[in-house]
Amino acid sequence: MSRTVLVTGGAGFIGSHICKALSHSGFIPVAYDNLSTGHADAVRWGPLIEADISDGGALRAAFDRFTPDCVIHCAANAYVGESVSNPQKYYRNNVAAGLSLLDACLAAGIGRIVFSSSCATYGIPEQLPIREDSVQEPVNPYGRTKLIFEMALDDYAQAYGLNFVALRYFNAAGADPDGELSERHEPETHLIPRALLAAAGLLDRLEIFGQDYPTDDGTCIRDYIHVCDLADAHVAAVRHLANGGETLRLNLGSGQGTSIDEVLQAIDRITGRRVPVTFKPRRPGDPPVLFADTASARIKLGFTPRLSDIDTIIRTASPTFGLEVVR
Ligand code: UFG
Repeated sequence: MSRTVLVTGGAGFIGSHICKALSHSGFIPVAYDNLSTGHADAVRWGPLIEADISDGGALRAAFDRFTPDCVIHCAANAYVGESVSNPQKYYRNNVAAGLSLLDACLAAGIGRIVFSSSCATYGIPEQLPIREDSVQEPVNPYGRTKLIFEMALDDYAQAYGLNFVALRYFNAAGADPDGELSERHEPETHLIPRALLAAAGLLDRLEIFGQDYPTDDGTCIRDYIHVCDLADAHVAAVRHLANGGETLRLNLGSGQGTSIDEVLQAIDRITGRRVPVTFKPRRPGDPPVLFADTASARIKLGFTPRLSDIDTIIRTASPTFGLEVVR
């Protein structure tokens, strides 16, 4: 059996950490990325194919050359706000181009797929923690495109006999503790990197979107999961499929809810820097509280987060922004 795994989006924040984890587990990661948001210098553990997932010919050539057994599909656009203003981009890249990838997998006889899905497929949860069998009613086009792709996988699995693991990420954060990889989005919209930019004086102030939520301190609560824990779960998913394992849909979170205020306190504690803030109205479409029930990932994949406490997330992300870790 081939140890090669093709990772679409392998030059991106999460994809590059997955490639490193695969390589450290004895797999050969082939990064397939159009470099629209990824970075070529983040591909260090295997070859880089610079191409788009909508390009059937390039996919066919990559499959012929590297003969992967499994595809990890991370390539996608992932800005919720942008998906509202430019849904065309999201349906084209996350749905239409994703289907071209699925078709190329079928044609090449690749029947094992690990898919980067999102907790955005749940929308506003009816109950917490969020379980995998909760209602999936996304509240923005980004979440809808991820859900549509999950549905396509379901239908393809039934009809063509492929097996897949859909991993529904909560809030990916942190960076490689060895300092070899980091989070470099352009533009950067995520809370933790923006707060660290502000702590480092590289951003005037962190804008906090809403302080009137029904939470203890009034700020939104999210489930932050360390990107290396996410990456390890992908390796476990690849192994599960390689061993003939069944199709799975799993949450990937820490299971802990952390408020924005608690994130800022952790930055203060770990770096000795206070984040300058300004309060703004709520951001449209933000659910007040999201955190995962992680029992299924533990039972089905043996997944236990090792680095997903907020202090370790801040400690590993801080050096990217030139911040010293004092504790
Ligand atoms: N926030 C701020 N100020 C900022 C940035 C964010 O107050 O400058 C707040 C947001 O309003 C939210 C929380 O911090 O309450 C977390 O926001 P992020 O943008 O970091 O993350 P989201 O929870 O909005 O989005 C993440 C992923 C998406 C995914 C979504 C699922 O980035 O890809 O979780 O809910 F779809």
